[in-house]
This record gives sequence, structure tokens and C-alpha cells, in this order.
Amino acid sequence: MAEDRKQAQQTSGVTPGRRESARPQDPLSPAMDRPASLAVAFQMDALAGIDIDADSSFALALEAQRRGHGLYHYAPEALTLRDGRVYARGRPVKLQRDYTRHFELGDWETIDLAGLDVVMMRQDPPFDMAYITATHLLEKVHPQTLVVNDPANVRNAPEKLYVTHFAEFMPPTVITSDREQIHAFRKEHKDIILKPLFGNGGADVFRITEQDENLNALLEMFTRLYREPIMVQAYLPEIRNGDKRIILIDGEPVGAVNRVPPPGDARANLHVGGHAERAELTERDRQVCRAIGPALRARGQIFVGIDMIGDYLTEINVTSPTGIQEIDRLDGVSLEAQVWDAIESRVDASGHLPE
Ligand SMILES: Nc1ncnc2c1ncn2[C@@H]1O[C@H](COP(=O)(O)OP(=O)(O)O)[C@@H](O)[C@H]1O
Ligand SMILES: [Mg+2]
Repeated sequence: MAEDRKQAQQTSGVTPGRRESARPQDPLSPAMDRPASLAVAFQMDALAGIDIDADSSFALALEAQRRGHGLYHYAPEALTLRDGRVYARGRPVKLQRDYTRHFELGDWETIDLAGLDVVMMRQDPPFDMAYITATHLLEKVHPQTLVVNDPANVRNAPEKLYVTHFAEFMPPTVITSDREQIHAFRKEHKDIILKPLFGNGGADVFRITEQDENLNALLEMFTRLYREPIMVQAYLPEIRNGDKRIILIDGEPVGAVNRVPPPGDARANLHVGGHAERAELTERDRQVCRAIGPALRARGQIFVGIDMIGDYLTEINVTSPTGIQEIDRLDGVSLEAQVWDAIESRVDASGHLPE
């Protein structure tokens, strides 16, 4: 694999990739030299802060390690573009499911991303200019180094805007900064939800009923806090039964978890008190997946989470979806193994992986 690519790079006049040096040499990673192993980097926030029972990136990294792939960790701000090449200052890492010590880092290295097989872009929001810049830099190595998900299509698909490509499945929604539009929308739908267009985790999500006198004050507050238009939606009473996260791998639904909001709160996000329950896919869920699956697959959005409230699609999350560990536990499956099967088949198909 490395030889073929090196040759291709040399004949095209590009500096040879540093696949050998890109592969962590650390004794922490004994399986590193297996012929079918891949060199993989996780671009994500600090490992120290993660919850090893909930973090999807941790589950993905652990599975990569189990398969003998060499792992690096680097922080999103560790990227450098120099003379057309993208480097990251990072460290080899070894993981274990151990509460006292879940990771061990090797020595710092400057990693030439072109020498890797896979980069997992898994940093947390905010989806801001730093995030966008990272997608531009990663785009320079993709797809020769497979970036998951495709960085240009991460940039083009913020979750609450991407979903508007499939408006027929959405609840009544308006995206606007125009107060008159918002008042007219409330008049029509009576019970509404307001949320920041680039928010996440349920932050600043408000339910406003027909008689509520706080709407103008709330809009003033949104204007102070956010420069983007607001997303305003009809309130869906079905939320009391939960907000269902469905995971799609390469466009196919592979599992789901229902998140039920605590009493007295419309927000189902697990970080603000929602709790996870086992979920089956309904016929409607499958219909939505059939409609959006081919688009996800075509755009290199390999690992995606969509959210359904009742029969309505509210978000398509391609930036750094979560939910793997909850679904694994509730359904007795390994979604991370399925993600790696999909990645390995892509790397294989593009000739990066040796026979
Ligand atoms: N249209 C809606 N009707 C009822 N509840 C909603 C609606 N939109 C959002 N919510 C509630 O607010 C939570 C957060 O909204 P969401 O759109 O998922 O944004 P994010 O999770 O990115 O902050 C949802 O999980 C759900 O509980
Ligand atoms: Mg959500």
C-alpha cells in the first residue's frame, strides 16, 4: 500500500508521504506493523475530559485500536498548512476502557496528514470559523487520506440547514431574523420552539406559547447573542414521547435511541436531563432514511445521526454525531464496528489498503 502510493506521489512530483513515520512507533501500540493496519488520526478535543461510557469518538477509537490500526490524537487547533501540505502536531495514543486511566499518550510528533490512511474529524461544536477553517485544511488531503466525514460536505451541511434539503419531512419551520415573520408564524401555529441556528445540546432552545408575553424580549436577547437568523418551529407535542436519534452508516440506518425529556422541559438532550431509551425504527423512520440515505452516501457522509420527533425530521448531524454507546448498550450491538467496516471498505476500494 505505502509503496504504491509513494510511487504515485513521486511520479506526480509530490513530496513522498511519510507513511512509515506517520505510523506510531511507540511500544504502546504493538499491533502497529500488521500489514493490514491503517494509520489513523482522531482530530478531537482533549481526551482527559471525555466520558468513556458516553463518548462516541472513544468507542470509535477503541474499535480502531482493536483492529490493529495505529492511532494518533491531535487537537483541532494543531493543524498547520505549509507549502501546500497539512501537518498536525499530535501524539500516538493507546486507549483502554478503564476509569482510572483511559488513555496513554506517546511522544509529540509532527504528522504529515498525507501519510495517514484515515482522519476522523470528531471535534466538538461550536460550528464556527475555526471549525470551517479545519474543514478547508482537511479538504487538502481528502480523499487520498480518507477524512470522515468528507470535510467539504461537513462544511456544507450544518445540521439545522442541511435538513431543509428534505423539507417535506420537517415540521413547519421558518428561518429568519424578521420579527414580523416570527410573530405571524406564532399566530398561525400558536405553540412554537425557537432555537439558535448553530446551537447544539439544547442550549437556548425555548418553547413559547400563544399568550406568552416574552417573545419580543426573547428576540432581543437572540439578537444580542447571535448574528444568524433564528430557527422557529411549530412545537411538536410528540416530543413528550421523545426525540429519536437514528444512526446511519453509509446512508443505511443501523440503530436508534430515543431521548425522552425530563418533566417540565421540552428539551430531550441527554446533557440537560433527557434519558435514553431503547427505540425501534418505524415505517416513517425508514421512509425518511430511504429518502436521505443516497445523498449522505454520495457526499461521503459515512457516519451520520438524524433526529426524529414523532414523524418529523429535525436535524441531520454530520459534524460529529453521537449515540453509538447508548445504542450499543440498549441493543447489544457494536455500531463502531460497522463504522469501521464502512471506512475500511472505502479505503480498500480506493487502493490504500493492502491485500
Ligand atoms: N419542534 C419542536 N417541538 C418540540 N420540541 C422540540 C422541537 N424542536 C426541538 N425540540 C426540543 O428541543 C431539543 C433541542 O432541539 P434540537 O433541534 O434538537 O437542537 P439541538 O439539539 O441542536 O440543541 C430537542 O431534543 C427537543 O427536545
Ligand atoms: Mg438535537
